[in-house]
Amino acid sequence: MIASALTILVAYLIGSLSFAVIFSKAFGMADPRSYGSGNPGATNVLRSGRKAVAALTLLGDALKGVAAVLLAKWATARYGLPDFVPALAGFSVLLGHIWPVFFGFQGGKGVATALGLLLALNLWLGLACAATWLVVFLVTRVSSLSALVAAGTAPVYAWFIDGNAVATGAILGLAALLFWRHKANIARLLSGEEAAFKKRT
Ligand code: G3P
Repeated sequence: MIASALTILVAYLIGSLSFAVIFSKAFGMADPRSYGSGNPGATNVLRSGRKAVAALTLLGDALKGVAAVLLAKWATARYGLPDFVPALAGFSVLLGHIWPVFFGFQGGKGVATALGLLLALNLWLGLACAATWLVVFLVTRVSSLSALVAAGTAPVYAWFIDGNAVATGAILGLAALLFWRHKANIARLLSGEEAAFKKRT
């Protein structure tokens, strides 16, 4: 019980490392919560024009999802914890990203971290979501729409890949959280005001 709770707490603390803010500060840039969409995430850092810092943010936020779940998988095997601990750690790292204890509980929307945790929970599920994001982005150039389509299809992929009702329900919960975090984006998408990234010429 204590080992499970500790594993889930550590996952939350890992999630609380907001790499958009950390890397922006490290490279002398403004806090991403102060410009663009105000979201501390790779998409908004990209709006600053610093592609390398945006790429580092994406990598850091995705890798913390991977790290939290892999750590939980290791602890589960090592200490005989219940099977659902890695999935709970996945939720916990996402909660940390969205409400980070180290950054005044002002976190991001959770897309990169969700991708990382899904890849670590089930490689095929993570790859299917990543491919969906990429295809929608290549067609529309809108990051939020790509995330919403990937999140919306994730429970369908989970059902076909795993066939487990509990796992599919958990992914449905994760998708609902991502939709909720994208409320402002959804409103802008519906009113036609959501900005698209320009195609490279
Ligand atoms: O990954 C976050 C993305 O889906 C939306 O970001 O900055 O356009 O609100 P943003």
